[in-house]
Amino acid sequence: MTTSPSTTLYPDAEGIAQAAALLRAGQLVAFPTETVYGLGADACNGEAVAAIYAAKGRPSFNPLIVHLPSVQAAQRYVVWTDDADRLAQAFWPGPLTLVLPLREGHDLSSLVTAGLSTLALRVPEKASAQALLEAFGGPVAAPSANPSGKISPTTAQHVLDGLGNKIAAVLDDGPCSVGVESTIVGLDGAPALLRAGGLPLEALEAALGAPLALKTTPDGSTDITAPGQLQSHYAPKAPLRMNADPPRPGEVFLGFGPMACDETLSESGDLHEAAARLFDLLHKLDARGQPIAVAPVPTHGLGRAINDRLARAAAPRPNDPGPT
Ligand code: TXA
Ligand code: MG
Repeated sequence: MTTSPSTTLYPDAEGIAQAAALLRAGQLVAFPTETVYGLGADACNGEAVAAIYAAKGRPSFNPLIVHLPSVQAAQRYVVWTDDADRLAQAFWPGPLTLVLPLREGHDLSSLVTAGLSTLALRVPEKASAQALLEAFGGPVAAPSANPSGKISPTTAQHVLDGLGNKIAAVLDDGPCSVGVESTIVGLDGAPALLRAGGLPLEALEAALGAPLALKTTPDGSTDITAPGQLQSHYAPKAPLRMNADPPRPGEVFLGFGPMACDETLSESGDLHEAAARLFDLLHKLDARGQPIAVAPVPTHGLGRAINDRLARAAAPRPNDPGPT
């Protein structure tokens, strides 16, 4: 693990080439996707993948998403299905992760899957992520680039604030447009929603032509199937209370829709804007050191992912932040 300050790279030809070279050398490089910034490492290099877990303070049973530049590149690693094809055709590249049975004979580090027989795959859309994946030319394992259990990063500055001296470089390409992590769909049995995210459930069901089994709930409390879906997660340092209307004295108030508040997820009640602003505003309000109250947010569309992240941020914290 690096202990010197990280280099900031920019998504021009030189920055992309340098980022790819660092990945090839087994170093950690944080890079932007349309959802959140990822903490990337060569997925075939066990030591590099181990460095991800070390930098994040992440428990080793929590598997990682492998990022690839195209559907064709992704198919090499898994047993592909008709449903995978439907979803990949409709939503890749984009904010969707598919979990499929791992194919034999792959060269991924077993630390990537944490020993599971399935693999989570994603083809991100953001041009700088695509350019980096193409330049690197192999699978990149990347969790969100935050210390384990903390708020996910949607800017390069968030990455540096959380992991600044633990990674070789961050590729700075501005704020993430979606702002919440990818939606995860399990396809190793009947299609199931494993994590609500940047692609709404309604869009997935329309593409599949069938309802998805729900393995999570908007309040995140039951049927936790993505191994990382532990309840207390995405935690700001300050306590957080959701569905708060009105706020209590002493709380900073994060609004939604037209209302008096300290900051607003979206004054016009737009869920896309709210998702894109969510983590940035949580970082910002957390810096004030006061308890945070959040106004009710609808639960349809991207509201499902927003409520899921808020519920985890509001969940009781173990004394030891431990494996979150
Ligand atoms: O938007 C995103 O998905 C971002 C960007 C960087 O791609 N990545 C991200 O990764 O959110 P991470 O590691 O923070 O969350 C990945 C989730 C975890 O909850 C993990 O347990 C779950 O995916 N996961 C990974 N492999 C899995 C598998 N084989 N089966 C079920 N869940 C899996
Ligand atoms: Mg994460």
